[in-house]
Amino acid sequence: MGMRSSNRRSAAGSRGGGGVLALSLLLLLVLQHAAVPASGQASSDGIVIAQADLQGLQAIRQALVDPRGFLRGWNGTGLAACSGEWAGVKCSRGKVVALQLPFKGLAGALSDKVGQLTALRKLSLHDNALGGQVPPAIGFLRELRGLYLFNNRFAGAVPPALGGCVFLQTLDLSGNSLSGTIPSALANATRLYRLNLAYNNLSGAVPTGLTSLRFLESLSLNNNNLSGEMPSTIGDLRMLRDLSLSNNLLTGTIPDGIGNLSRLQSLDLSHNLLAGSFPLSLCNVTSLVEINLDGNRIGGHIPEAIDGLKNLTKLSMGRNVLDGEIPATVSNLTRLSSLDVSENNLTGGIPESLSSLANLNSFNVSYNNLSGPVPLVLSNKFNSSSFVGNLQLCGFNGSAICTSASSPATMASPPLPPPTRKISKKELIVAVGGIIFLFSLLFCCVLIFWRKDKKESAASKKKGAKDVASKEAGKPGVAGGKGSDAGGDGGGKLVHFDGPLSFTADDLLCATAEILGKSTYGTVYKATMEDGSYVAVKRLREKIAKSSKEFETEVNALGKLRHPNLLSLRAYYHGPKGEKLLVFDFMTKGNLASLLHARTPDSPPVSWPTRMNIAVGIARGLHHLHADATMVHGNLTSNNILLDEDNNAKIADCGLPRLMSAAANNNVVATAGALGYRAPELSKLKKANTKTDIYSLGMIMLELLTGKSPGDTTNGLDLPQWVASVVEEEWTNEVFDLELMKDAATGSETGEELVKTLKLALHCVDPSPVARPEAQQVLRQLEQIKPSIAVSASSSFTGEASHTTATGTTITDDTKSTTGTE
Ligand SMILES: *[C@@H]1O[C@H](CO)[C@@H](O)[C@H](O)[C@H]1NC(C)=O
Ligand SMILES: *[C@@H]1O[C@H](CO)[C@@H](O)[C@H](O)[C@H]1NC(C)=O
Ligand SMILES: *[C@@H]1O[C@H](CO)[C@@H](O)[C@H](O)[C@H]1NC(C)=O
Ligand SMILES: *[C@@H]1O[C@H](CO)[C@@H](O)[C@H](O)[C@H]1NC(C)=O
Ligand SMILES: *[C@@H]1O[C@H](CO)[C@@H](O)[C@H](O)[C@H]1NC(C)=O
Ligand SMILES: *[C@@H]1O[C@H](CO)[C@@H](O)[C@H](O)[C@H]1NC(C)=O
Ligand SMILES: *[C@@H]1O[C@H](CO)[C@@H](O)[C@H](O)[C@H]1NC(C)=O
Ligand SMILES: *[C@@H]1O[C@H](CO)[C@@H](O)[C@H](O)[C@H]1NC(C)=O
Ligand SMILES: *[C@@H]1O[C@H](CO)[C@@H](O)[C@H](O)[C@H]1NC(C)=O
Ligand SMILES: *[C@@H]1O[C@H](CO)[C@@H](O)[C@H](O)[C@H]1NC(C)=O
Ligand SMILES: *[C@@H]1O[C@H](CO)[C@@H](O)[C@H](O)[C@H]1NC(C)=O
Ligand SMILES: *[C@@H]1O[C@H](CO)[C@@H](O)[C@H](O)[C@H]1NC(C)=O
Repeated sequence: MGMRSSNRRSAAGSRGGGGVLALSLLLLLVLQHAAVPASGQASSDGIVIAQADLQGLQAIRQALVDPRGFLRGWNGTGLAACSGEWAGVKCSRGKVVALQLPFKGLAGALSDKVGQLTALRKLSLHDNALGGQVPPAIGFLRELRGLYLFNNRFAGAVPPALGGCVFLQTLDLSGNSLSGTIPSALANATRLYRLNLAYNNLSGAVPTGLTSLRFLESLSLNNNNLSGEMPSTIGDLRMLRDLSLSNNLLTGTIPDGIGNLSRLQSLDLSHNLLAGSFPLSLCNVTSLVEINLDGNRIGGHIPEAIDGLKNLTKLSMGRNVLDGEIPATVSNLTRLSSLDVSENNLTGGIPESLSSLANLNSFNVSYNNLSGPVPLVLSNKFNSSSFVGNLQLCGFNGSAICTSASSPATMASPPLPPPTRKISKKELIVAVGGIIFLFSLLFCCVLIFWRKDKKESAASKKKGAKDVASKEAGKPGVAGGKGSDAGGDGGGKLVHFDGPLSFTADDLLCATAEILGKSTYGTVYKATMEDGSYVAVKRLREKIAKSSKEFETEVNALGKLRHPNLLSLRAYYHGPKGEKLLVFDFMTKGNLASLLHARTPDSPPVSWPTRMNIAVGIARGLHHLHADATMVHGNLTSNNILLDEDNNAKIADCGLPRLMSAAANNNVVATAGALGYRAPELSKLKKANTKTDIYSLGMIMLELLTGKSPGDTTNGLDLPQWVASVVEEEWTNEVFDLELMKDAATGSETGEELVKTLKLALHCVDPSPVARPEAQQVLRQLEQIKPSIAVSASSSFTGEASHTTATGTTITDDTKSTTGTE
């Protein structure tokens, strides 16, 4: 019964009346036990206990079963009953004012003679195994403020006589087996501020009379068998902060009067049979922090006015029959951390604006009728379990790739303010086109499934005509050469470059995809093909790519780029609405940034030879790019150094700037700068060149050596400044990653290699571009520092070079050097 702890907390914060008794139960108990035996003192007044009280206690003792012997001291004449020797008994002027024996393993019953303790203010026997009835005689205890009998085995009815406890503030009988109805006479205990009858077997209606309890702050009647409607006068409970009626059989609608509960913070009506709509008046209850209406039959729309609930952190309305759209105004609920509207009938898209909910850590829109792309922030944060069951929703892990142009704003991972802000009207038009395309995508998937059915069971004859149509939908491109698949569902075009992959446009578009990450150029997916193999698919950001003609010229050149240290572009898809997908080899080990920085204590150390191998690989790939392909990378970071099974580096995003408009490339340069890889001169130049690439390479080498991210600053110094300052003071060893120092301790050569590599890296990040070496020089020096790597790496080079085709060597003829960033 985990949910009960919060109720107990509010008991501790009790109001004045209880005086000394208002401390938390456990605390009181602990204090009493600690103090009494140590001092051995009699209770403060030392007055002999009143006869009626002694008889009452003795009768109570007799009815109790005390397997653990807590009540051993309750013996003798009783003269000591008020002296503190009778565990759990507290007196004042010879009268028992408190009886507190929680968590004592007590069984048996509670004697009706408890009614003789006429001065009793607090009776706390919770968390025992007491059975039988709750004695109606408790109703005689006119002084009683707190009755805590929860978590026992009391059965029978809640005695109406309890209404006689006119000063009662807390009544907690939860977690028993009480049955029958809730007596309306409880309303006579007009001072009640906390009433908890949860987790029993109570039936019947919630008595309307309870709504006259004008001090009531917490009402918990959850997990019973209550039926009927909620009292329409519920709004009279002006002081109410917590209301839980969940897990009952309540019917009818949520009364409008609930909007009058101006102090309500937590409302839980989940798992009832409530119908009707979300009461608009509830949007006025600005104090609300949590709303749970799960599992009812609440229909209608989620009101737009819900954004009035500024303090709301949790909104659960799963398993209802809500329809209409998720209002964009939900994004005004800035404190929202949990939103669950799963299993409803909601339509429309997931509002992009929900991306702005920074505190959102639980999100569920599964099993609705939602459509369109999932905002990128959400698909990155939450797994498929949050989105499944919406046939037309795309762009989350495991869904179809969104190939429509409907979500330009979602692609803005790093800010690109000028392009994204201007074009919102156009975006709208594009979005409409996108939705149309989505339908055709769905159609494609249907065709594919249906065609599979055909193959397996050749029975159905009715659909013969459609079958012919579907066969025309797409044919595989010619693997190994250059194939164009201009069929496809919506008239898109798939072009294969050389390589082992063969798939059709509809294979690609219907592959399940998982988001791997996003970069300045677009979103990268891991797509699972029909045969179970993976490819990496990069969907280029719409707004920043070149127009179709230029794009195709450039992308065909990139498709010929082949080198063991460059990630191979295997195919591209150019959709009918201008969407552009690039298909690359999938690299199982992810990228260098996560190898170095996303480490857990269990991650195996990254050894020096591995790091050196990576550095050499990058240098080799970059040298090929600069010297042979005469291209500039322009955005070299540890994020786009991918690693194959054997930790060989593959540079990704090669030549991608050539696919982008000039404006976009300026922004890419700016972003790279923000990550710390940008050469200082780029702030003026705005145009990447080979020397700015070398600067980025130097930063990656520093990253490999220090284990620090270029974004990190130490004492206000950026990474190169910090390394330089440490080296200057001849504490060179302090800069290296601790893991490397372990390597260095075992091999004396390693230390020397580290220092040499560090010097080379610092040379690469020289503020003056002309002072920086060429990629070829970096490569040669690295190979000199660690000759063994040079050998093993070049053998892997020849190994893979043999299975790449002649296209790799023809690149220089095709691609005349327009620098990467025009
Ligand atoms: C009461 O119980 C205590 C503890 O068990 C014991 O020491 C004491 O002798 C008992 N007194 C009488 C009068 O039985
Ligand atoms: C509650 O109060 C009403 C009227 O004030 C009285 O008739 C009734 O007996 C009371 N019930 C109990 C259980 O005290
Ligand atoms: C509710 O009542 C039904 C039968 O009336 C019973 O089977 C069920 O156990 C009750 N639920 C609870 C929580 O006691
Ligand atoms: C709950 O009460 C109903 C009658 O109201 C009874 O049939 C049922 O057995 C009770 N369930 C439990 C678990 O006590
Ligand atoms: C809310 O309170 C106001 C003022 O007391 C009252 O007039 C109104 O009827 C209440 N609304 C409902 C629906 O109970
Ligand atoms: C919300 O409160 C305002 C002002 O208190 C009132 O005018 C309005 O009628 C209330 N709305 C609902 C739906 O109760
Ligand atoms: C919202 O919460 C803040 C503190 O969390 C509180 O100060 C404020 O009073 C709350 N607003 C309402 C309307 O209850
Ligand atoms: C959802 O809406 C559809 C179509 O309006 C309807 O057939 C279906 O019953 C609804 N589902 C629920 C759970 O209300
Ligand atoms: C609430 O959200 C809507 C839609 O996202 C927005 O237009 C409106 O300005 C927001 N209102 C406030 C008060 O923040
Ligand atoms: C989904 O919504 C569409 C229209 O928005 C409706 O035609 C269709 O019946 C809905 N499907 C379900 C399962 O509710
Ligand atoms: C999705 O995430 C939740 C936690 O947010 C986790 O419990 C669940 O196992 C995950 N499901 C999948 C399919 O990864
Ligand atoms: C979302 O809701 C569905 C259906 O209620 C559930 O199966 C799934 O586990 C939930 N996912 C998350 C992440 O809460």
